Amino acid sequence: DIPSFNLNTGAKLPSVGMGCWQGQPGPGRDNELVDALVKAINVGYRHLDTATGYQNEGEVGQAVRQSGVPRSELFVTTKLRPGGVHDPVKEFENSFKALDIDYIDLWLLHWPQGFTEDDGGFGAGQACGLEHQKHLGPTFNETWAKMEDIFLNSHKGKVKAIGVSNFSIKNLEILAKTSKVTPAVNQIEAHPYLPEHELVEYCKQKGIHITAYSPLGQYNASIHDDKDLNEIAKKHDVTAATVALSWAVQRGTSVAPKSTNEKRMKQNITLIKLSDEEMKQVNNISHDPKRSTRLNFFVIDKETGKILGWTMEEMGWDVGF
Ligand code: A2P
Repeated sequence: DIPSFNLNTGAKLPSVGMGCWQGQPGPGRDNELVDALVKAINVGYRHLDTATGYQNEGEVGQAVRQSGVPRSELFVTTKLRPGGVHDPVKEFENSFKALDIDYIDLWLLHWPQGFTEDDGGFGAGQACGLEHQKHLGPTFNETWAKMEDIFLNSHKGKVKAIGVSNFSIKNLEILAKTSKVTPAVNQIEAHPYLPEHELVEYCKQKGIHITAYSPLGQYNASIHDDKDLNEIAKKHDVTAATVALSWAVQRGTSVAPKSTNEKRMKQNITLIKLSDEEMKQVNNISHDPKRSTRLNFFVIDKETGKILGWTMEEMGWDVGF
């Protein structure tokens, strides 16, 4: 069995989940995804992490129903898409219907920024979320208040926990000024090249559990060739990926790596125990500027709300992290 972390709701979240972002759906892909997810559940995964923005809640729900594993043993996360922040009730009902799995375990506000409907999602967007961007859309405080109402009142029982994703310390502090419910989870990009030590520590103190997405660095395959990770891997006769995931779980964050390959699916749920020295060694990797990256962020111009690019370092984004 995969060990779990306790959320501030009392629910248990498996330490390793399956990330369901598989790129855009296409011909033949839908069944492939269902098969891959059923396989993941069969090899032992109990947490499936999807999002409205991934356009595959239908397939994720189908895999849950087909797996033969009791619903109560599975944990399903989905996310309110950035284009849906204006009407969370409608968005929740769509997700609920598409998944068709009796209840949603965890519903996250996908980004601290959102877009208007007519932008069609990740296009030229309008920012929401931060107070100084209020004229461009609802703040994330307002969106969160609607999510709280869905969770506590209007759709009580249909969603077991609510949380956020891609929130910085600054974002969480702005949210805390108006929130009634502390997010159960903040799901962020985190891996040895982006350890987010401060944010992880902050969330621990606030009782907000961190789930790391792209825990293997996703587009930065060099993590697999990393000299420190491989040095440790060799000692334990495992791969660098196993070291990265074991480090993440050992420091108290759950992970949602994705793989469609059965061998790697199994590898990623088989973690090892690192020594204190080895934990330190991984903790310090990102001190090397060549091994410190943020891979997966979009940057929004404060004045216009336009998306400027995807790399914070290039754009000097100062509104969030
Ligand atoms: P594949 O599906 O062929 O296994 P991330 O979770 O950080 O976004 O990374 C996902 C990518 O890493 C996918 O391309 C996946 O490919 C690959 N991957 C997943 N697990 C492993 C592993 N244990 N070793 C090497 N590559 C992996």
